[in-house]
Amino acid sequence: MPETDVNLRVTIAGLELQNPLMVASGTFGWGEVFEKVQGFDNDALGAIVLKGTTLEPRKGNPTPRLVETAGGAGIINSIGLENPGVDAVIRDHLPPLEGCKAKVIANVAGGTVEEYVEVVSRFDKADRIDAMEINISCPNVKKGGAAFGASSEMAGEVIAAVRAATGKPLIAKLSPNVTSIAEIATACVETGADALSLINTLRAMEIDVDTRRPVLGNDIGGLSGPAVKPVALLKVHEVYQAVRGAGAPVIGLGGIACARDAMQFILAGARAVQVGTALFVNPMVCTEILGGMKDLLRRMGETDINDLVGTLKLNCGE
Ligand SMILES: Cc1cc2nc3c(=O)[nH]c(=O)nc-3n(C[C@H](O)[C@H](O)[C@H](O)COP(=O)(O)O)c2cc1C
Repeated sequence: MPETDVNLRVTIAGLELQNPLMVASGTFGWGEVFEKVQGFDNDALGAIVLKGTTLEPRKGNPTPRLVETAGGAGIINSIGLENPGVDAVIRDHLPPLEGCKAKVIANVAGGTVEEYVEVVSRFDKADRIDAMEINISCPNVKKGGAAFGASSEMAGEVIAAVRAATGKPLIAKLSPNVTSIAEIATACVETGADALSLINTLRAMEIDVDTRRPVLGNDIGGLSGPAVKPVALLKVHEVYQAVRGAGAPVIGLGGIACARDAMQFILAGARAVQVGTALFVNPMVCTEILGGMKDLLRRMGETDINDLVGTLKLNCGE
């Protein structure tokens, strides 16, 4: 079958993506690092999600900030939202992305509702920002972050406030560290989120027996990579079931490292996917996943990725 017979184009919250593949926040910098990798092409991606951005610059957490888990199945990070602040991001990091064919999505973080609103208002005026992902799920900061994503009330408060500050598509990025992610997803959609992305990292700790101390400078961090994929798949399934009636698209992520992983998320209900930690292992993984998804579609006898979204067949029925 010729390549054009397979459609990977998807629409998320009115945003037309040339394919469903995005790079996850915090694992792709501002889009400049991977351009230096020979053969890597930012233009080929569906969207680039920028590093989490706050109002003021942040230095991040003390080192060490990264530790690998057993068998290379995951990493625990506690970067702590290091970033130069929204004004510097707009001034220094958006101009190089002018002309890039991938959509550009800002990732917004904050310690207060007012901070989220201010960052969103500034990105709202930046033409290159096509959408905003509201990070109410960062486990590595002492103030705000995941606290906003931990209850339906607080999540709804942040989303309603940022909704009033922009007409651009809003994606609420959800935490898996909650009792009912479906309830929080529903609250976000009801208060104005156009789409949901999940999962952010799972709270985790690694301990050095010799020093009797946690390995990370921040003591705790967030687990990501292949180890979290089964958790992420279940969460995507649960959220898709909760919000499909409202028509809100789901963006799935957590441990995706190959085309089959990506397809698992699509079947569970994701219309688009993000790749994060796998980029650290293989910078060309996105190119491989894109090619692999087209092959997989053909092998499954399908021609349009959209037809597969949420088509998981449960063994126990609905
Ligand atoms: C080093 C690192 C930095 C991250 N920084 C952010 C961030 O700034 N904002 C955010 O929403 N998520 C951040 N994340 C979470 C990822 O975007 C993603 O949700 C998570 O890692 C799960 O996907 P993965 O297993 O494919 O990496 C970060 C993850 C890593 C590993």
